[in-house]
Amino acid sequence: MSDELASILAGLRRPQKTISPKYFYDEAGSRLFEEITRLPEYYLTATELGIMQAHIGEMADLIGERASLIEFGAGSGMKTRMLLQHMHSPAVYVPVDISGDHLIDSQRSIQADFPDVEVIPVAADFLHPFELPRPRTMPLRNVVYFPGSTIGNFEYEDALRLLRVMHTEAADGGALLIGADLQKDPAVIEAAYNDGAGVTARFNLNMLRHLNREFGSDFDLDAFEHRATYDRDERRVVVELVSRRRQVVAIGGAQIPFGEGESIVTEYSHKYSLDGFAGMAGEAGFAVERVWTDPRRWFSVHYCTRP
Ligand code: AVI
Repeated sequence: MSDELASILAGLRRPQKTISPKYFYDEAGSRLFEEITRLPEYYLTATELGIMQAHIGEMADLIGERASLIEFGAGSGMKTRMLLQHMHSPAVYVPVDISGDHLIDSQRSIQADFPDVEVIPVAADFLHPFELPRPRTMPLRNVVYFPGSTIGNFEYEDALRLLRVMHTEAADGGALLIGADLQKDPAVIEAAYNDGAGVTARFNLNMLRHLNREFGSDFDLDAFEHRATYDRDERRVVVELVSRRRQVVAIGGAQIPFGEGESIVTEYSHKYSLDGFAGMAGEAGFAVERVWTDPRRWFSVHYCTRP
């Protein structure tokens, strides 16, 4: 049995069943996530973009000349383009992703639009330190970029571990530009994860289709339903797949029993306070030099340096 299957089974055998959110992102899941980012209820993407638009000049000035932009997760979106457009003579753009397909797409589309910027994709699992490529132009500073509040999908200790990898890759004199979703009226948050068009429900259920294809399990997609609730104590959205009935699911030679109403946690999405985020970044060795928010204070973008 592969390590991957063993860890999925271990998650399904816990008292609270869990499956890692990384299984959201097969081809269909990545497309559904793109759709989520355009939903009226999903305020995160549009709000972060608004913050970037309002402050891109200041961001570019802080990043400074001839910086290397190292994006955790292969980007090709508006925010990456905006940064590259406004940065002062960027030395190199380094998208880092575990998926080669995402990297090729990212490299192609960024290189086409920014012919003067060297683009060097790195295939790596960025939860562990990796070696940075040597660009043609020696960068004056490494700036790690992690938009979207994807940091919020990691539990505290894992988020800290990831921030420490970013700290290593930023190196001496480097920085981190990172998006973090903020605490707000729970009704607004819950609506973002329970959209009226049902896209988030399809995104969540698609994980089961992905597992069926990849690991030969027999999850019945009609026998589970999407649930997303805001846990006010833990300050995070809990995304679950809830079993509609008693059933047994076969996966990797094992039989996993479900009671009616029993759930699999498929994702957490943590919501931060500005101080809470600064504290976590501080624990990883970063100092928040500048933070931007939108007028409603729904989302934040932090520029963190290595003091
Ligand atoms: C990728 N990540 C920041 C999204 C979030 O909001 O936590 C994933 C997502 N899950 C449901 N909708 C969006």
